[in-house]
Amino acid sequence: MTVPTATASDPTWWRQAAVYQIYPRSFADANGDGIGDLRGVTSRVPYLSALGVDAVWLSPFYPSALADGGYDVDDPRGVDPRIGTLEDFDAMVTALHGAGIRVVVDIVPNHSSDRHAWFRAALAAGPGSPERERYIFRDGLGENGELPPADWTSAFGGPAWTRVEDGQWYLHTFATEQPDYNWAHPEVREDFLTTLRFWADRGVDGFRVDVANSLAKDLPAVLPSAAELSAMPKDGTHPLWDRDEVHEIYAEWRRVFDEYDPPRTAVAEAWVDSPERRARYASPEGLGQAFNFDLLVADPEAGAFRRIITANLEQSALSGSSSTWVLSNHDVVRHATRYGLPPLEGRREKQGTAWLAEGGPEEGIDRERGLRLARAATLVELALPGSAYLFQGEELGLHEVAEIPDADRQDPAFFRTTPEDRGFDGVGRDGCRVPLPWTREGSSFGFGAGGAHLPQPAWFGGSSVQAEDGVPGSTLELYREALRLRRELQGAEELTWAEGIDGGDVLAFERPGGWLTVANLGAEGTPLPAGELLLASGPLEAAADGSAVLPAGTTAWIRR
Ligand code: GLC
Ligand code: CA
Repeated sequence: MTVPTATASDPTWWRQAAVYQIYPRSFADANGDGIGDLRGVTSRVPYLSALGVDAVWLSPFYPSALADGGYDVDDPRGVDPRIGTLEDFDAMVTALHGAGIRVVVDIVPNHSSDRHAWFRAALAAGPGSPERERYIFRDGLGENGELPPADWTSAFGGPAWTRVEDGQWYLHTFATEQPDYNWAHPEVREDFLTTLRFWADRGVDGFRVDVANSLAKDLPAVLPSAAELSAMPKDGTHPLWDRDEVHEIYAEWRRVFDEYDPPRTAVAEAWVDSPERRARYASPEGLGQAFNFDLLVADPEAGAFRRIITANLEQSALSGSSSTWVLSNHDVVRHATRYGLPPLEGRREKQGTAWLAEGGPEEGIDRERGLRLARAATLVELALPGSAYLFQGEELGLHEVAEIPDADRQDPAFFRTTPEDRGFDGVGRDGCRVPLPWTREGSSFGFGAGGAHLPQPAWFGGSSVQAEDGVPGSTLELYREALRLRRELQGAEELTWAEGIDGGDVLAFERPGGWLTVANLGAEGTPLPAGELLLASGPLEAAADGSAVLPAGTTAWIRR
């Protein structure tokens, strides 16, 4: 069955789209079992439509044991029965398309789950069997193969090789339950083309590609040690990461995308070393777009933002893609909270979870400052040429839930690390995945008629949709107005730094049509430039002579 796309005629819709990420289990629960579901998404289409987003991206909703929040996929062409059915999926797509909202789904190609039919078959068939060839199995070291083939650590901590009953070991870059596929195997390649067509035929407009930089691997007979591995440059020749030949895979995918009208789109999640290497994923012959996490890992400082914006716009112009901008997603501490954490010298380049681990618990967070800067940064993000990827709940100014009892945690990154060795992933990623508050009070704050699969704190009701809806100055109304204006103002993908205004702690740039953005990211107020004030991320002030002042931590949109 083919569902028409939102506006079938526009092949460039993705270039400057505002894409809203839905984490399905935590968005809206229609049947009250404590787990968000596809009917829940469908029930909130009016909300998404009023918010003014161009597309939604759904994190995995496939059958899964949830060893990694659904990124451990049992069957990439199904819907987890706790989340719904394929019929619910089709109804959701129809409702979203009916509202002019496009649909992007998550594709997880680095690994399956250990419950996938292929992995079960691999276990059953034993060493040396063709079934094992679809994954990465090795014999162990030591006299009886009792030692792992290498001392590698998984991305979530703990060993990256796990031994199975017959004595062989398999590679998992992430959790034990996420065996890595062998992408040299033609059946693996073919199966993913089938999956892409399966969803594209159901009307899906695009794909978000999980860990897109890890599919191609080249493991020598004698494996390098973890220390040797981490010393190897990631210049296209690393055995595991960002190998050049990964782009042959995406060239094949592109041919599938182009079978459709308009062509299906894709965005790579690729934490690579430079904008240059990222641009390869964004090439029109490949996935077409790639996440740019540079703003997400930066402090909200004018100098850092200026450098990042300049470099990424140059890069996207070279690649033929449009740039992407991200401040929050399901893997990092929400930006309202990151910006309110005490400064941690030398750790600023790390993701927020590490800051939270060191800056938390709750009392370590300056929520007011964090939210003020988050709103200012969001108005910068939404004014930039390219696509903005928003994470559910950021439109409410939602903070990270810093204190989740250990017994309630779900993130494998939490369980695979000890407090001493918690680096990158810190306390884990559950704090941004707590089910959304829709109402001030009531069962799970309107998430559903039952509970919530991660505990919601008492303060959640104050940040609910109900608490902010129609309230002037609320973060929800700020996002709605910003997204509305963005649609109206957005023209060519061009940006010029505003001479005479941009400099020091003040970031100022202009888009075609006289759309000026001024962000005061310093500690002192600055004069508000002349022109028609369209929107500001916070209240303005007045100088002694009555002239308008843009306070510290505030962004304004002006038409001049
Ligand atoms: C990506 C996802 C993350 C997941 C990991 C393994 O980084 O964003 O949530 O845990 O891949 O699939
Ligand atoms: Ca449910």
